[in-house]
Amino acid sequence: MTVRKIIIDTDPGQDDAVAILLALASPEEVEVLGITAVAGNVPLALTERNARIVCELAGRPDIKVFAGCDAPLGRKLVTAEHVHGKTGLDGPQMDDPTMPLQAEHGVDFIINALRTEAPNTVTLCPLGPLTNIATAFQKAPDIIEKVQEIVLMGGAYFEVGNITPAAEFNIFVDPEAAAVVFGCGRPITVMPLDVTHKALTTAPHVQGFRDMGTKVGEMVAAWTDFFERFDKEKYGSAGAPLHDPCVIAYLIRPDLFSGRHINVEIETQSDLTRGMTVADWWRVTKRAPNATFMGDVDADGFFALLTERLARL
Ligand code: BDR
Ligand code: CA
Repeated sequence: MTVRKIIIDTDPGQDDAVAILLALASPEEVEVLGITAVAGNVPLALTERNARIVCELAGRPDIKVFAGCDAPLGRKLVTAEHVHGKTGLDGPQMDDPTMPLQAEHGVDFIINALRTEAPNTVTLCPLGPLTNIATAFQKAPDIIEKVQEIVLMGGAYFEVGNITPAAEFNIFVDPEAAAVVFGCGRPITVMPLDVTHKALTTAPHVQGFRDMGTKVGEMVAAWTDFFERFDKEKYGSAGAPLHDPCVIAYLIRPDLFSGRHINVEIETQSDLTRGMTVADWWRVTKRAPNATFMGDVDADGFFALLTERLARL
């Protein structure tokens, strides 16, 4: 397997944090060119801070972390402290990071990286609202054709919504940005709630993280404990979905996931269904396919991979 160059665009978030750790633990498969923070789960000042905390936790203060957009393209920011806590990484006690934030804007980093690297060699991995990616595409349309693939967490079809009855959080926060990305013409792979709600943590998984006997294992277990409480109460499930690590797991083990290459459009007009991912799963329209929309995951394989990789850190 060739090593994929990736840019992680993220709004940490406990599940974003686990995704970043998984990527940094997997150098045989992915090379992290940089991490761009975006406003989402919590405001930008916290997401860029949290991204640096996670890099330091992984022993990688050399990773370049950039602050990107602090608000959606044309709407007021909606955040998710009710899920992730006040800091976005509530759970364990964490010190402020000491590694620097890069001076360059996250959007400019994305543009420059895509212009510098060979065409078709950089995969974008958005784990939050798509504001940074859409802004980069609008500011520098020449970079779009250079993108190898966009593998993102967002949307839902059978699960419909989590922040509203009709929409998943990442797409709901900035539907106009999502519409730009889904319309960009490059290969897109989507990890919707339909997949992530099949990758639920269990008590043995969390114990497995703790049993690593490492700081990373302890932190991931504590984050999971915190993160789970919301979903357990809401869904009555035994655990919580680890949404964002599905994106990185796909890059490492695509065989764990299955889905359909279909048309996916984003609702931007309706207040009622704002941010809905209108996925033509049953192929009832003639609209051209623009995304591989995943529908299933081998959850045991996913957690085995996650545990094996996190234990390396
Ligand atoms: C998505 O929203 C955020 O709360 C999570 O980090 C994930 O990216 C799930 O809807
Ligand atoms: Ca996220």
